[in-house]
Amino acid sequence: MERTFVMIKPDGVQRCLIGEIISRLEKKGLKIVAMKMMKIERDLAERHYAEHKGKPFFESLVSYVTSGPVVAMVVEGKNAIKIVRTLVGATNPAEAAPGTIRGDFGMEVGRNVIHASDSPESAEREIALFFKPDEIVEYRRIDEDWLY
Ligand code: PPS
Repeated sequence: MERTFVMIKPDGVQRCLIGEIISRLEKKGLKIVAMKMMKIERDLAERHYAEHKGKPFFESLVSYVTSGPVVAMVVEGKNAIKIVRTLVGATNPAEAAPGTIRGDFGMEVGRNVIHASDSPESAEREIALFFKPDEIVEYRRIDEDWLY
């Protein structure tokens, strides 16, 4: 099993998309093993997006993700990183395919609704930034035998 970090960004929360997004993840077969609503402080946002420091969009990205509450999650499943990125769609909602979260709900890259880790290394780093080990819960989905 693989774990990935997912964050519903402030626009997703304010636009009441939390339930819709969680529902898509669950129905696909992914398991939510940690979740919290929180307001990200600037320091955490800068550390989360550290690899983009210095890029032209960095300041607006940090101010966007700190502008309101977010929902942070750890999502588990076989090949979860790839599967979640596919459900999320392209970074720029204008290029994201219909049927993806950004393709269905986003209009521009600066308000692209959701973040998902792009590699095992990012997932590990991002999960550790947002969650303590004892906040991640292990359990079996009742339909697990039918998913795999
Ligand atoms: S890069 O330069 O190719 O590595 O950047 P990219 O992977 O496309 O995006 C990295 C994160 O920055 C966000 N982003 C932006 N935010 C606001 N405004 C603009 N113009 C912008 N361009 C990129 C992008 O959504 C990525 O954040 P996450 O949360 O991972 O989606």
